[in-house]
Amino acid sequence: MTILVTGGAGFIGSNFIHEWLAHGDEPVINLDKLTYAGNLDNLRDIEDTPSYIFAHGDIADYSQVSAWLANFDVRAIVHFAAESHVDRSIDGPLSFVETNVVGTTHLLQAALEHWRKHHNFRFLHVSTDEVFGSLEPDDPAFVESSPYRPNSPYAASKAASDHLVRAYGETYGLPVLTTHCSNNYGPYHFPEKLIPLLIHNATTGKDLPLYGDGQQVRDWLYVADHCRALRMVLANGRPGETYNIGGNAERKNIDVARTVCAMLDDYLPLLDGRSYSDQIVLVRDRPGHDRRYAINASKLRTELGWKPLETFESGIAKTVQWYIEHREWTAAVTGGSYRDWVARQYT
Ligand code: NAD
Ligand code: DAU
Repeated sequence: MTILVTGGAGFIGSNFIHEWLAHGDEPVINLDKLTYAGNLDNLRDIEDTPSYIFAHGDIADYSQVSAWLANFDVRAIVHFAAESHVDRSIDGPLSFVETNVVGTTHLLQAALEHWRKHHNFRFLHVSTDEVFGSLEPDDPAFVESSPYRPNSPYAASKAASDHLVRAYGETYGLPVLTTHCSNNYGPYHFPEKLIPLLIHNATTGKDLPLYGDGQQVRDWLYVADHCRALRMVLANGRPGETYNIGGNAERKNIDVARTVCAMLDDYLPLLDGRSYSDQIVLVRDRPGHDRRYAINASKLRTELGWKPLETFESGIAKTVQWYIEHREWTAAVTGGSYRDWVARQYT
């Protein structure tokens, strides 16, 4: 038996594959289109492992996906593949609809035909807390039954994919599981997202741009904790159910930036004695910017016994250290098209 991971060359998918192979020898196929966010360097250390197979392709390619599912006797799909950056969805929403909505539907259809022949099968859909919209400062954290109120094209496309996953479960009986996770951080995080962008910009002498007033709140989770939660949901989650995953670590963006800067001040002090925090600047806000996310993960804790192993402080220390020790990784992903994106987004 084998599992098929979609989007395994991205940030969370590659961490998940590392985590999967570290905990057993069940083969894993990584189906990835290798968009700008997909990077096989994330998997360089395991690429020769016999239980790892890379399949270059698109989740929307129904016949190719069907062939992989049948040929490798796949017992589960863990579906990460997506366009995942909110700012890019504001810049150009169509690719988000194509991959996140249409691509997911093709994948579901291939999974359905496969499941009808091989009954022992599960489809784990990796979704986000952003489908629930934005919280006021005193609102309780999102629970699994919180209403859908997506605000960005990215969140709307993920919400649409969630509804299709649910519909395939309800209508056809496909054994589906959906997770809603809060903001991840850790190794292999593409430096268009806040934390790796801050580290990259700080260490290359650039501004640290915070949108609006920098007071927006995210609930941060170290990526390995997310991956462990997904393994638990895949193994023991109840088909048809949804599970929230979160770090119980709400932080304002300005405080995240100050924490990253303080760590860099320790690990990599500037020669002139300044703090990296002098590089923080407030810039034009993200349109429709969600003010606050917070996740109540008590269902996952009660039903499956999961809780995060890292605090924000321990996870961010590991992350900053990883980026300092892997500067060649960041250098390789911040070339031409990355620079074009940064110029368009921040000018
Ligand atoms: P990412 O952008 O780093 O990686 C996405 C991967 O999907 C890339 O490897 C890309 O090449 C691949 N991909 C894109 N389109 C594809 C297609 N049509 N066919 C095959 N592969 C394709 O994303 P990430 O941050 O690792 O997020 C993974 C998933 O987790 C996404 O579904 C996202 O919505 C969800 N999620 C992310 C976070 C977070 O904080 N990053 C939090 C909660 C949920
Ligand atoms: O909550 C889960 C979501 O977290 C995932 O579904 C998304 O795929 C993932 O990208 C992430 O979305 P966010 O929009 O919350 O992450 P991002 O890192 O882009 O931004 C985090 C916060 O920092 C947000 O309030 C916007 C702000 N920000 C971001 C960037 C890139 C800045 O202030 N400046 C920046 O330059």
